[in-house]
Amino acid sequence: MSAPDHSFDLADRHALVTGAGRGIGRATALCLAGRGAALTLVARSEAELLEVQVECLELGAPSVSCEVVDLLDREALDELAGTVAAGADVLVNNAGSAPSAALERTDDDLFDATLDLNLFAPFALSRAALPAMAERGWGRIVNVASTAAREGYAYTSAYVASKHALLGLTRALTAEASMRWREADLTINAVCPGFVDTDIVARSAERIAESTGVDSQTAKARLAAMNAGGRLLSPEEVAEAIGTLVCEQPGQTHGAAWEFAAADA
Ligand SMILES: NC(=O)c1ccc[n+]([C@@H]2O[C@H](COP(=O)([O-])OP(=O)(O)OC[C@H]3O[C@@H](n4cnc5c(N)ncnc54)[C@H](OP(=O)(O)O)[C@@H]3O)[C@@H](O)[C@H]2O)c1
Repeated sequence: MSAPDHSFDLADRHALVTGAGRGIGRATALCLAGRGAALTLVARSEAELLEVQVECLELGAPSVSCEVVDLLDREALDELAGTVAAGADVLVNNAGSAPSAALERTDDDLFDATLDLNLFAPFALSRAALPAMAERGWGRIVNVASTAAREGYAYTSAYVASKHALLGLTRALTAEASMRWREADLTINAVCPGFVDTDIVARSAERIAESTGVDSQTAKARLAAMNAGGRLLSPEEVAEAIGTLVCEQPGQTHGAAWEFAAADA
């Protein structure tokens, strides 16, 4: 088992971040790079990943590789799971989509795709990661959930179901890890932010604008007003919370699910 690390130094750690091309994933990659982690960045858009790769190297990451993967592609996901098992000390399951549709317009494909990306991909990668992390004696998994993991929102049944389930998965894995791998320093946590200023919120604001006739700035302001602090969170604020969980001193979150709410930001 590796020696406990009480600092925020991730110099000897390798982190894999899904959805690292923009938004919360990009900010998380930069945060971990600044703490010295080697990185694997995952998303579908190679151009975005390459930009983040350069930024991470500038911040001091010792190595940064890009995996252009569609997490909805089961074969590609399997291959990525192999990469995770082979050497990820830190897994940040961040990639996600947040479609909105009335119940009758939430068809099977929309529901399945949302659950596949937001729940199955984190499950498959965690299934590969945890036993290998336990074997190496240290590991951190952070699942990017949402306040939608803890309460219901209208017109987002698939999204809310997926995030509730992701939080359930986090708790189940925490229980299993603390039973099976007590001697290893493993933590599995979820962050549950409210609305964050990223493309997802921009797209939601556009959809609200289209369906209600208000302009998209007004729609965005209405989403911001739903957050505890009355403003949108920045991706960097969420990334800091994720970085803190990754670097948490052993014992504090060992075997415990730790939820980060927007109100705490
Ligand atoms: N923004 C919010 O208000 C908010 C609030 C709470 C929770 N969250 C959660 O935070 C996470 C990140 O959201 P964000 O707001 O940062 O979104 P974003 O800016 O749209 O970024 C999403 C990232 O995921 C990647 N991605 C999407 N579909 C993918 C797929 N099929 N395979 C591989 N990568 C894929 C995207 O890259 P490509 O498109 O290139 O693949 C992108 O890098 C999501 O899980 C979301 O549910 C967001």
